[in-house]
Amino acid sequence: MTILKPKVLRFESLPSTNTELARLAFEGAAEGVSIVADEQTAGRGRLQRAWSSPKGAGLYFSILLRPTIPQNYWPLITFMAALAVGDALRESCGVETDIKWPNDLLSGERKICGILAEAIDTPSGRAVILGIGINLTQNAFPPELANLATSVSEATGRAPDREQILAALLEALSCWYPLLDEPKQIVDAWSNRSSYAIGKLVQVSNGDDVWQGTTCGVESDGALRLRTASGDIKLVRAGDVYSIRSSKG
Ligand code: BTN
Repeated sequence: MTILKPKVLRFESLPSTNTELARLAFEGAAEGVSIVADEQTAGRGRLQRAWSSPKGAGLYFSILLRPTIPQNYWPLITFMAALAVGDALRESCGVETDIKWPNDLLSGERKICGILAEAIDTPSGRAVILGIGINLTQNAFPPELANLATSVSEATGRAPDREQILAALLEALSCWYPLLDEPKQIVDAWSNRSSYAIGKLVQVSNGDDVWQGTTCGVESDGALRLRTASGDIKLVRAGDVYSIRSSKG
């Protein structure tokens, strides 16, 4: 069984915790080495987007994984992380979350956390830099995101305790990571926690490609199954998913 033993390195300011951890991974850092920064000056999100990371406004965290599971299951690392963040937010501050495929945690339909898992080649083998950004306060994002994003402070009405959330996150990651050895458990748990897994009418965009349909579960490797108007099942492996309206009413 794979045991994860996180070891946290702290920084006041970094361009990106993912970038710094990739550098350490290349130098031979062990699985579990993690980085937390008070601010990021060049925080990165999915699809080459910037991740706004002002000082103290978010938990900016990355952990190095050296997974032994087959690479076609590596997309489930993001699922595993979403489950861990969900547990951590519930345990540390009582915030309940939904998961939007593939990697956004939502509170009240607005984004509270983003996850960026990047596979890299290192001299000691292929590794994953798992980056997690949790919005702690509204300062974490620019005004144009106000309707799309939320924060722990908004969800709880209290000042968030970053260290408490971090401790809960490390514990939750340590609990969920070994379950990657049994991918079905991850997929089932993710599906139970995500309102996007089944019966959600969504639009998916990936570059110039746009599809619309109703979600009907996820594949064993994490691909989202979408039933289009013609009745075809499309497997979505990349892209942005937007809820059009809930078909569950
Ligand atoms: C997304 O939703 O697009 C993913 C956002 C991931 C942000 C985190 S913050 C810590 C780590 N370092 C980065 O530069 N990005 C990730």
